[in-house]
Amino acid sequence: MSAVIEQLRKEHVGMAKVLSLLDEEMRKFKSGEVMDYLMVHSILDYMETFPDIAHHPLENVIRDVLVNRDPAADAVIGDLKGEHDRLSVLVQNLREAVQAVEADLEMPREDVVAKAHEYTGFLMRHMQKEEHDFFPRAQKVLSPEEWLLVEESIVDMLDPLEMDSRIEEYEALRREICSWEKATD
Ligand SMILES: [Fe+2]
Repeated sequence: MSAVIEQLRKEHVGMAKVLSLLDEEMRKFKSGEVMDYLMVHSILDYMETFPDIAHHPLENVIRDVLVNRDPAADAVIGDLKGEHDRLSVLVQNLREAVQAVEADLEMPREDVVAKAHEYTGFLMRHMQKEEHDFFPRAQKVLSPEEWLLVEESIVDMLDPLEMDSRIEEYEALRREICSWEKATD
């Protein structure tokens, strides 16, 4: 498997874990508990930065190289870029809803939970589609030279979820993922 695809799949695993934590916070919030705002903001900070700065742009480059070589792939993989843009909007909507709750503004709990589910559901389906249609097609079509070209576009940003990362802001999120992994083993 191309090292780039392997890395993207690994990042999907990380994102899916973060979404599970978000779902858990929303489950608690829906049942009347106070959400862990620090954790939810950490989740939103992560989801609003790393995918948009590093993960999605890299996928967009692969998509362009792929469709250039294999125009029929366009219909199979769908509107990848449009979905990436939509994800940015959905996470922003969720951020605004969480901030409204925090500021004690009129915001029904169901509305916040619905926005979270819209976002997590869309992202999970999007990642599954990429893994099912997009990655295998790129893997099959791109030449080693084209993968080198793709690698040149990689943004030099360490995934804050990498356990050896020293980005302190995400320490609590990493700890939470670690304990969640142990609990679900
Ligand atoms: Fe992706």
